Amino acid sequence: MRVAAVVFDAYGTLFDVHSVARRAEALFPGHGAAIAKLWRERQIDYSRLRTLSGRYVPFWQVTADALAYTLSALNLEPGAFAQELLQCYQHLDVYPEIRTVLETLSGRGLALSILSNGDATMLATALGHAALDGHFAHVLSADTVRRYKTAPEVYALAETAFGVKASEMVFVSSNCWDACGAAWYGFQTFWVNRSHAPLEKLDINPRASAENMLPLVEFVDALIAS
Ligand code: LAC
Repeated sequence: MRVAAVVFDAYGTLFDVHSVARRAEALFPGHGAAIAKLWRERQIDYSRLRTLSGRYVPFWQVTADALAYTLSALNLEPGAFAQELLQCYQHLDVYPEIRTVLETLSGRGLALSILSNGDATMLATALGHAALDGHFAHVLSADTVRRYKTAPEVYALAETAFGVKASEMVFVSSNCWDACGAAWYGFQTFWVNRSHAPLEKLDINPRASAENMLPLVEFVDALIAS
C-alpha cells in the first residue's frame, strides 16, 4: 500500500509531559508525581468538555486551568510556582529515540507532520526548543478548527494538509484514546504504549503498538510492502 505521510501526536508522544514531574517535585516536594498525573488528566478532560459544549479556549489556557485545578485539589498554594510549572510546557524533554525515528522515516522519503491539540505558539516554542522543527512538513493544530481530539474535524486537518485519505497515512500517538480516535477516522494507527497501559475499551484498537517508538519504522515498512 501507499503510505503518503506519518502524522504524530505531540504531547506525551514526542514530548515527555511527565518530565514536568521532576520540576513539580522540586517545587512541591512529595507531590511531583501526583501533580503531573492529575494535571495531564484534567488537561485532557477540559479539552473534551470544552469541545462537547462548544466552549473553546486555546490549549495553553486549558493547560493553565488544569494546573490551577490540580494545585487546588492537592491543597497546594500556587504562588509563583504555578507560572514556573506552566513554563515547563515550553521546554519539554523529547523521548530519547524520537530523533532517530524521524530521521529514518524522512530517509525513506516519507513526509512527516504533527497533529496536536496544542496551539500554534506553544507547539512552535516546544519544537524550537527541542530543535525538532526541521523534521515536519506541517505542524497542524486543533486551534484551526477550535475543537479538540477526538473531534473528526481535528483528524481531517491531516487529510486537507496532505491532500490524501487518512487510510494512506499512519497516525502515531502515546495516548491510546487518541490512536483510537484516529483509527475511527480511518488512519493506520500506531500506539506508543510506554506505560504498559491496557487497551481502551472503545470497539476499536490501534493497528500496532510498542513500548517505544523504534518499532514504528518496521510497522511503516510492512505497510508499504503490503
Ligand atoms: C496532543 C495531546 C493529545 O498533543 O497530547 O494533541
